[in-house]
Amino acid sequence: MDRIIIRGGRRLEGRVPVSGAKNAALTLLPCALLTDQPLTLTNLPRLADVEGFGHLMNELGVSTTIAGLRSGSNLRAMTLDANTIGSTTAPYEIVRRMRASILVLGPLVARAGEATVSLPGGCAIGNRPIDLHLKALEALGAEIELAAGYVRAKAPSGGLTGGHIIFPIVSVGATENALMAATLARGETVIENAAREPEIADLCRCLVAMGAEIEGIGTERLVVQGKSALHGAEHRVMPDRIEAGSYACAAGITGGDLLLEGARADDMHAILVSLTDAGLSVTEEADGIRVKADGPLRPMTLSTAPFPAFPTDMQAQFMAMLTLAQGTSVLTETIFENRYMHVPELARMGADIQVHGRTAIVKGVDRLLGAPVMATDLRASMSLVLAGLAAEGETQVHRVYHLDRGYELLEDKLSAVGADIERAGGG
Ligand code: EPZ
Repeated sequence: MDRIIIRGGRRLEGRVPVSGAKNAALTLLPCALLTDQPLTLTNLPRLADVEGFGHLMNELGVSTTIAGLRSGSNLRAMTLDANTIGSTTAPYEIVRRMRASILVLGPLVARAGEATVSLPGGCAIGNRPIDLHLKALEALGAEIELAAGYVRAKAPSGGLTGGHIIFPIVSVGATENALMAATLARGETVIENAAREPEIADLCRCLVAMGAEIEGIGTERLVVQGKSALHGAEHRVMPDRIEAGSYACAAGITGGDLLLEGARADDMHAILVSLTDAGLSVTEEADGIRVKADGPLRPMTLSTAPFPAFPTDMQAQFMAMLTLAQGTSVLTETIFENRYMHVPELARMGADIQVHGRTAIVKGVDRLLGAPVMATDLRASMSLVLAGLAAEGETQVHRVYHLDRGYELLEDKLSAVGADIERAGGG
């Protein structure tokens, strides 16, 4: 199994190209199921989860062609063609490795009238239920049945009908499933307390390009007028705000100066404000966002919450950076019930962190010491890389397949700005 080896203590300086957003790509890919015409997505990140989703689409009978790499850039385009849908079943073998597979449920029911998707089950950070996804589809007339670890959803013979969905809590995935299904449901659908993450707006923009009619894009109230069919389109995946935020933390933890090429400030105001609170200087430039260490790291109180507040996907990375702040920080994770798996690993590197339920108290220390550590989930693994970049000596991050799910060309991007980092096989 691959591992990443980092020799820390180097100040990072230079330009980091930000890739297309994983969490946008994973909801844009299933949009292809909504039409019998080709959908082309550009600026797709080359990530394990995106490859995995491509294979899932193939399982469903969707043809996918990679437009190959344009010379001199890591742009990659995929054209998906769901002219006919060969299967409406997403098998356990695929879903268990990639829980975002659940996002084929809404499109399949809307287009093909039925779907059978393995229940995704939990993961390291929480049990990740899908009850809100199912309730939303029931509000559009779908019949839901759970059996033998699968969810079966069936539309009435005349197809889905518009409905009024009020989410009791904000759910990104459930909003995405509801939105995609509503575009082909007869009549009007109102979605209240919808997630407002930028990836949802990116999904709406793609659906509108395919002929969907959606009002309230970017707000918590979305109104969709269903259409009898959508058509093909070309859509560029938005830049990855969490990847950009992660590299901003790399600048902070190494006392560096990085230009995050292509990052969009509007997607990440809460992150940028917290970086400034941590003592970094943040400036918007024509081609991205510049993040520069500007004196010692400052402690802070931070709580995760749905967009536009501070994102849960940045909690582990900020925690790594704050282990070296001058003072005590208090972090509260309000979204997932078990998103502190990085804490014991950071502690092995000398961090001083106490967890009480959903709250972590991070007492700044003078230095971290390199050590062999274990990645447990995607963002936790990035927090260990960040700690390794600042630690004295060598850090080996094991189980880097977690990293490969969400960070494209990680070692290349970090080496290019001065990190001493390499990937080693086996062991
Ligand atoms: C998306 O997951 C992201 N994944 C996650 O990113 C992100 O952390 C999360 O949104 C929150 O922003 C993708 O977009 C592929 P939710 P999702 O539904 O949709 C509860 C990463 O690191 N809930 O917004 O699964 C749930 O348990 C990943 O890139 C229900 O109770 O998240 C959680 O407590 C990790 N019932 C809360 O809602 C449901 O039916 C928010 O989850 C659905 C969710």
